[in-house]
Amino acid sequence: MSSISLSVHSTKYLIVAGARPNFMKIAPICRAFSSWQDSHPGAEVLLVHTGQHYSRNMSNDFFRDLGIPEPGINLEVGSGSHADQTARIMMAFEPVCLEHRPDWVIVVGDVNSTVACALTAKKLGIRVAHVEAGLRSRDMSMPEEINRLCTDAISDLLFTTDTIAVENLRNEGVVGEKIHFVGNTMIDTLCVQIDRARKLPLPDGLEPGQYAVLTLHRPANVDSPKQLARILSAINNIAERIPVVFPVHPRTAPRLDGMELHPQIRVVPPMSYLPFLSLVARAKMVLTDSGGIQEETTVLGVPCLTMRPNTERPITCEIGTNVLVGTDPQRIAKEAASVLDGRSRVGTIPEKWDGLAADRIVDVLLHQPSQGSSVECV
Ligand code: UD1
Repeated sequence: MSSISLSVHSTKYLIVAGARPNFMKIAPICRAFSSWQDSHPGAEVLLVHTGQHYSRNMSNDFFRDLGIPEPGINLEVGSGSHADQTARIMMAFEPVCLEHRPDWVIVVGDVNSTVACALTAKKLGIRVAHVEAGLRSRDMSMPEEINRLCTDAISDLLFTTDTIAVENLRNEGVVGEKIHFVGNTMIDTLCVQIDRARKLPLPDGLEPGQYAVLTLHRPANVDSPKQLARILSAINNIAERIPVVFPVHPRTAPRLDGMELHPQIRVVPPMSYLPFLSLVARAKMVLTDSGGIQEETTVLGVPCLTMRPNTERPITCEIGTNVLVGTDPQRIAKEAASVLDGRSRVGTIPEKWDGLAADRIVDVLLHQPSQGSSVECV
């Protein structure tokens, strides 16, 4: 990353980002490294974008909104099947590791880029730090659950967002020294950006508290036309009472062809970070199958109905505003009616979701003992 390059005798950190939900998680880590520059002039940081997401509105717009420096390297891997995409990331990332010889590779979240780069680095003897470790849905049909388990199993440092994640790792036998409960870097970004977001005008015709927001992109919900139609029948029902803004993920867009949508459902292209946060912050409720949105709504105090059978983020249901409603249309419509009738749950904000997670992470990283020459010859 051109803007955070420090001294010659350095500890080198390579930060990986690949897909849309990664960008909000790396932004505060990049910023925290910059702010530690004076006290730790030996830290050198390089940002690698795998190119898993590549469309302007899935990638570049987020870098702009979040002030993330240009990645030093873009692997430009693009889309593909799981094996194809994961393999291409690994093949493109290995020479980067060999050339730059980082001391640490920092991966975030649970996307294919996360596991691909963790595995590549670890097999070269490079230490790996996983940010957002320990989340578990216990649902092995989710590609992300496999990515989470594999990444955590080989990481040297596991940074967790909550105490449930700490417990999950302990139960899997991870030694305590590896685990650091630091808070949530996605929420760090929200804390930095929320004032800007709230100043943005809402799209034409929308009034605060008088619209819902919908996101849908999980393969389990959108890849089968029958399942997608079931979920949309519930949304059509909700749209009888309130306008629903639906920024459509590129995975979902082609699958909407021929689906019946209520005229009060406003289908729009994927939105970049600030306009989306602005929309969610003033919504009456959010209906989603995303992971991160469950957390953001909890912090914003906005009711969230998660249309999945399980969640890797149970803390948002235990103390936040999230309700796991599954994918049965009647249940979705019933829970939405409760919110619209003013019976939404009041949540609290999880411990350490205070905007300082990235500082804690960088503090831990900068105080790790050095390992000497880390990259083995292949
Ligand atoms: C990926 C992550 C998922 C995350 C989601 C957020 C994995 C296994 N999945 O799923 O955890 O919640 O990102 O968006 O890593 N496409 C574009 N432009 C892009 C990227 C994708 O048009 O910039 C289209 C392509 O047709 C592609 C499809 O979207 O085939 C799906 O993209 P992919 O990265 O495979 O998975 P996501 O569903 O985005």
